[in-house]
Amino acid sequence: MAFSSSPSSLLCTATAIVIVTLIACLIVPQLHVVKTSLPVVVHPRDVLPLLPKQVSLPLLSSLRSEVDLIPTFIGYASPVSNIDPGHHQILEWKGACFYNNTAWLEFHNKSGSEFGGGTLHIKVKHKGVAIFVLEAGMLGALRALWDVFPLFTNTAWGENSNIEFLKKHMGASFNQRPQPWVTNINPDDVHSGDFLAISKIRGRWGAFETFEKWVTGSYAGHSAVCLKDSEGKLWVGESGHENDQGEEVIVILPWEEWWESVQNDDESNAHIALLPLHPDIRAKFNETAAWEYAKSMVGKPYGYHNMIFSWIDTTRNNYPPPLDANTVASFMTVWNQFEPEYTGKLWNEALNKRLGTQGLDLADILVETEKRGTSFGELLAIPEQDSWVYSDGKSASCVVFILQMYKAAGLFDSFASSIQVTEFTVKDAYMLKFYESNSSRLPKWCKEGDNVELPFCQIRGKYRMELPEYNTLQPYPHMNEKCPSLSPDYSRPKNC
Ligand SMILES: *[C@@H]1O[C@H](CO)[C@@H](O)[C@H](O)[C@H]1NC(C)=O
Ligand SMILES: *[C@@H]1O[C@H](CO)[C@@H](O)[C@H](O)[C@H]1NC(C)=O
Ligand SMILES: *[C@@H]1O[C@H](CO)[C@@H](O)[C@H](O)[C@H]1NC(C)=O
Ligand SMILES: *[C@@H]1O[C@H](CO)[C@@H](O)[C@H](O)[C@H]1NC(C)=O
Repeated sequence: MAFSSSPSSLLCTATAIVIVTLIACLIVPQLHVVKTSLPVVVHPRDVLPLLPKQVSLPLLSSLRSEVDLIPTFIGYASPVSNIDPGHHQILEWKGACFYNNTAWLEFHNKSGSEFGGGTLHIKVKHKGVAIFVLEAGMLGALRALWDVFPLFTNTAWGENSNIEFLKKHMGASFNQRPQPWVTNINPDDVHSGDFLAISKIRGRWGAFETFEKWVTGSYAGHSAVCLKDSEGKLWVGESGHENDQGEEVIVILPWEEWWESVQNDDESNAHIALLPLHPDIRAKFNETAAWEYAKSMVGKPYGYHNMIFSWIDTTRNNYPPPLDANTVASFMTVWNQFEPEYTGKLWNEALNKRLGTQGLDLADILVETEKRGTSFGELLAIPEQDSWVYSDGKSASCVVFILQMYKAAGLFDSFASSIQVTEFTVKDAYMLKFYESNSSRLPKWCKEGDNVELPFCQIRGKYRMELPEYNTLQPYPHMNEKCPSLSPDYSRPKNC
């Protein structure tokens, strides 16, 4: 394929690579199926979500509609029969760059591999005819895009595209607030268990969080928690703090060090709100137990294993269109090719837990899912169990780490054992009715310089943070195990 130098066709080219690769990768499990005489494993109804975030977000604002850009599952480019490779089933779809496109797959065995191989043909009528030959090198191209785009976004332009996206798709406001944009807080007024809601809007993490916010309906994408020691010194516990080796791990840092690293090492333009616990809740908070839990987790890796499962609770209603479980499956399949070890951590282990199996790779997981007569979407929706232990220990993402601590500290009372905090998103955490409800009791530095009164303390950021439904939901057993999360209103049925 030819790369053109004009920016718009470059965008189209990028889109083409993504779409082509996804379709091609869907065929991997299918080939498997052909060999084992099973029906198609991944159903078109089940669609594909995670890929878009970093590759496509920077491009979104340049196109009329992101729906044209994000690869939607269209169907399978598969031959009607693998016995007669001359017989092609032709697919058609529309996209921003490709109106009325067709694709078909021709099987051959040029690679001489166990499962054979094939060529995916794509005909792009809008611009004449082009044939794309899909070789392994194409996956390399996708990987290069993946690596390069986040770098591009670490600019005011990247920040603005995140903001525009959140305004358009979530109805976020992003009103500018008066200086100071960094509050001079007094640690004496901060207590154990106080929650730090963090919203990153720039760079790699900004793009990642934009996607996370969009799919979960959360207005903050990251979180940390405050802890006081017996001498009254303030500490911050955080899952997902980058260590010197560049790994995201769980840390407990002195407040001053953490606050300094937010100002100086973090390019994401983090907006931060302190959500103080309500005095009655604080009275229940067992600081000893909280410290015990936090210390037991220090140095453990960020909770990659179960990160995505907090978001997917339902088979359909957690995927903003055009995403769906097929998109997820495709994304996972693609990524499996790049980073087998990493993806093993990211989801294979968690999917094995859901099936009650061990050590199956993704292709085998898909086959096993089909054998059991269930769909991949249903598999993803099975609730994570807090008790599951992975090969590198228990897995805790940022908010799971905090809520496990709340659980250990006694905030979920007698029904703690009926709460799976791995099912909670950041939004689920700030919606809990755990926080200060009387704004006249907030420390006075909370309102410093801003005449708009917030129910919490924003301590950093150019834009005023908003946390809709903050502090509104009493916890109940099995909460958040069956909640849909559909943009733009993210309505949440009672007791889901
Ligand atoms: C696409 O083009 C083919 C012929 O080239 C035509 O038969 C078909 O109806 C078109 N589909 C759409 C959706 O326009
Ligand atoms: C492809 O070729 C290799 C080597 O010739 C052979 O072992 C393999 O079975 C073939 N695969 C298919 C699907 O025909
Ligand atoms: C607080 O937690 C510690 C450690 O788990 C425990 O020994 C202690 O009894 C708890 N205190 C209360 C008041 O429950
Ligand atoms: C809020 O707190 C202030 C100061 O503690 C107190 O005087 C006031 O009654 C409280 N308001 C409510 C509604 O509880």
